[in-house]
Amino acid sequence: MKAPIGVIDSGVGGLTVATELMRQLPKESIIYFGDTKRCPYGPRPKEEVEQFTWQMVRFLLKKQMKMLVVACNTATAFTLEQLRETLDIPVIGVIQPGARAALTQSWSADIGVIGTEGTIKSKSYQQAIHHINANITVRDLACPQFVPIVEQGIQSNKDIYETVYQSLRPLKNFDKMDTLILGCTHYPMLRDVIQEVMGQHISIISSGEETAREVSTILGYHHKLYEGDEPPIHHYFTSGDAIVFRKIATEWMQQPIHHVDSIHLTD
Ligand code: SIN
Repeated sequence: MKAPIGVIDSGVGGLTVATELMRQLPKESIIYFGDTKRCPYGPRPKEEVEQFTWQMVRFLLKKQMKMLVVACNTATAFTLEQLRETLDIPVIGVIQPGARAALTQSWSADIGVIGTEGTIKSKSYQQAIHHINANITVRDLACPQFVPIVEQGIQSNKDIYETVYQSLRPLKNFDKMDTLILGCTHYPMLRDVIQEVMGQHISIISSGEETAREVSTILGYHHKLYEGDEPPIHHYFTSGDAIVFRKIATEWMQQPIHHVDSIHLTD
């Protein structure tokens, strides 16, 4: 089925998921919406995140997407269930795949989760983990300073290390913790510094990457994988500045980005 896979995020962080999708499913076309103008979603009230998410979804539905990936953790925490109930295409969020991957990885049954205020307050990762194993200890921590670092993309390495170190300090006291979930699509872009701060003994789980792995299974199950020979076409939409988006996307994805359009979202 030639229709594209839709990926939505509050900004550029979901490009980590899009990149992983392109690597694992090179025949599939992707349509990506990054709501960069209104990023971050993390500190916003639930109702607002719901409204913004639905605006992106309605826009991508007009492009005939065959599956929706909610790459933003905050949007997943607040809207996944209603999207699944309403849409007649498969919908996947990032929280359950991340939680499952952490459970596979942890030997000590002591798992950390970092995310935005919205995601951490929602307790969605705890629920997903405890739904599978109620005996796991989950340590959660909101890191509100990480998304601005990534979206701006201009601080020095020294500043980034200091911000990450200060933010993660509370988690460094938990000796038994052996796994840390990056519960925000932006955090994989800080993965190396997070690993350095936490130590090599901590397994880092990127929810976005894990999600991409599950997309292939779901499309296969629904017989929706593209089996033809036409090359994929990837199209990017942003609510912000298309030139800035293209620049950041080109740097992070390390490939030429052809189609980027700036869209004014309305209800
Ligand atoms: C944000 O918009 O605050 C970050 C994205 C996320 O929650 O994954």
